[in-house]
Amino acid sequence: MTDPSARPPLDLDRVRRLVGPAYAVEVVDAAPSTNALVAARARDGAAEGLVVVAEHQTDGRGRLDRTWSTPDRAALTLSVLLRPALEPGAWPWLPLLTGVAVVRALREVGADAALKWPNDVLVGEEKVAGLLAERVDTPTGPAAVLGIGLNVSTTRAELPVASATSLALAGVDVDRTELLGGILTSLRREYDAWRAPAARPGQSGQAGQAGQSGQAGQSGQAGLHAAYTALCATVGRTVRVDLPGGQPLVGEATGIAPGGGLVVAGRHGPVTVAAGDVVHVRPVL
Ligand code: BTN
Repeated sequence: MTDPSARPPLDLDRVRRLVGPAYAVEVVDAAPSTNALVAARARDGAAEGLVVVAEHQTDGRGRLDRTWSTPDRAALTLSVLLRPALEPGAWPWLPLLTGVAVVRALREVGADAALKWPNDVLVGEEKVAGLLAERVDTPTGPAAVLGIGLNVSTTRAELPVASATSLALAGVDVDRTELLGGILTSLRREYDAWRAPAARPGQSGQAGQAGQSGQAGQSGQAGLHAAYTALCATVGRTVRVDLPGGQPLVGEATGIAPGGGLVVAGRHGPVTVAAGDVVHVRPVL
């Protein structure tokens, strides 16, 4: 195990300067789960934009009741609180939007990142980041907690599973503070673009102004759908989807449905999968 003192701590002042007033960023030395922490703060009335980053997460939660473990200062483990006024049908797009933001931020630092539906971030065929979005009921309405776990300097020996990787192992040497700033900026950009109302002819659209209708703006939604599809390595691949409590579905992933599900052309025709674990099946050569 690498000595944590060889891994520099996050520079909170610099993160705050990088991301500006859209976020209230806090860094804690250790927390069981930043998602649990931010969910509790949301129930206590925290405002949209709260970000909690843990230098060491001791009981991180993953999708499908899995765990997420990372050594001290080797990763970025954070959760972002949003309070969007959305129709129920738009909520599934929040984790997908987060994935787009993370992939774009990683590409900016030179990582060849892509998405595996729904929420894994890959470099090559290996997972470098996982996202866990949770909807939380609070006294002032539903809130979204967007959790991001990204392996930055983790060594091969420190990774919990063979199918995982880190940016360092992929040859990308990046400062965590800079990267955190890039991810949060990218997330804000995607979120604002998604919610922005379509500019009408003759109207000068104001960047970053969110729609108030409870829906993502129509052009914002189309843009997000197109961006997710373009960045998703699953589309066009032969996949096996392990469905909760059912037989695995094997077929070609042909696209992303309007609701964010994965469309798989199986033996009995196209099926839209709303949740499940996807395996990219290697073609037999
Ligand atoms: C997955 O791939 O299964 C999702 C992993 C999500 C991990 C992140 S780390 C920060 C946040 N807090 C948590 O407890 N989980 C998420």
